[in-house]
Amino acid sequence: MALIEASSPHVMNTYARVPIALSHGQGVRVWDVNGKQYLDALGGIAVNTLGHNHPRLVPALQDQIGKIIHSSNYYHVPGQEQLAAKLVELSGMTNVFFCSTGLEANEAALKLARKFGHDKGIERPEIVVYEKAFHGRSIATLSATGNEKVQKGFGPLVEGFVRVPVNDIEALKAATEGNQNVVAVFFETIQGEGGVNPMRIEYLKQVRELCDARDWLLMIDEVQCGMGRTGKWFAHQWAGILPDVMPLAKGLGSGVPIGAVVAGPKAATIFQPGNHGTTFGGNPLAMRAGIETIRIMEEDGLLENAARVGSHLKGALARELGGLKGVKEIRGQGLMLGIELDKPCNALTARAAQAGLLISVTADSVIRLVPPLIMNEAEADELVALLAPLVRAHLDE
Ligand SMILES: Cc1ncc(COP(=O)(O)O)c(C=O)c1O
Repeated sequence: MALIEASSPHVMNTYARVPIALSHGQGVRVWDVNGKQYLDALGGIAVNTLGHNHPRLVPALQDQIGKIIHSSNYYHVPGQEQLAAKLVELSGMTNVFFCSTGLEANEAALKLARKFGHDKGIERPEIVVYEKAFHGRSIATLSATGNEKVQKGFGPLVEGFVRVPVNDIEALKAATEGNQNVVAVFFETIQGEGGVNPMRIEYLKQVRELCDARDWLLMIDEVQCGMGRTGKWFAHQWAGILPDVMPLAKGLGSGVPIGAVVAGPKAATIFQPGNHGTTFGGNPLAMRAGIETIRIMEEDGLLENAARVGSHLKGALARELGGLKGVKEIRGQGLMLGIELDKPCNALTARAAQAGLLISVTADSVIRLVPPLIMNEAEADELVALLAPLVRAHLDE
């Protein structure tokens, strides 16, 4: 039996890790190095769209690895054109820049917003961001993030952000009133790390109108809630609006690192040669992963599956846990659900793992469920059967 050290002598100590190490997976199940099985309701934090060892994704990636893994953005990469065309079709937007992670996609968005301002003569552009937002851990994206724990120790923060509460159009108007430097509004349609907090449909429409009226870019971080997780390709599509800039990452490559910033007409030509770049972004392996992920999602109806199984799961959670004193709210959409308790519950991630279930806790008191989009109803029932007793026991403590 392989023991997992509580801390590693060589890997930097940046995570409070659950003391298990995964060895392999199949569908929505994974096994650790000791052979113990888990139901995966975390999906590598909303990354493993197609679950593990998918029978059509794996051979496609093997085929690609045998051809070419990486070339360079010095040359054309045909896969970029193919994946960009698909993202344009799905989003209704027009152009894509590829990178490798969510924070890079968000950095690109922030740079787009600033250059959008500079191009129209605004020398100190400001971007509206939100309380409880999470956009990444680079200096700029952690400055945009609305969480002091993420920012602590890394000052001075990047300037040029105006922070507002979610779902409050009057607060947004008040915070920006008379400010000619504002160039963009930037938020997650459903905040992930902040505790699974959805933006209301009405609010999304109001912000779109305000951005149009004021000539601001509407930039929507769909890194976590996008790529089919809520039952539409992108969560903002529930409101029938179009953003000007949309960062993506996580689920787009089903586990192969990939990021993308998708732009509409207002932002598509802001970057010109020399303005932005990356070594790894858009490499042939990542592009193949994105192309095949979307192809399989379409072939297998995974948007519909996420919506159906998500509402089944939400219903089952509501029946098992909804009435309990101590459960404040069960919220979210599709396969992005949060169960907010009235007290911290970080201990539940390790206890759930012990019970054979992978979950995470965000914002200290919100159990987050972001399983692979291939999960079926029986597996969702199994998830609830594993989780509910742990939540009850925790609330009784
Ligand atoms: C909404 C959102 N944006 C950005 C990021 C950062 O992505 P990455 O960890 O790939 O840099 C995350 C990661 O959790 C996220 O949830």
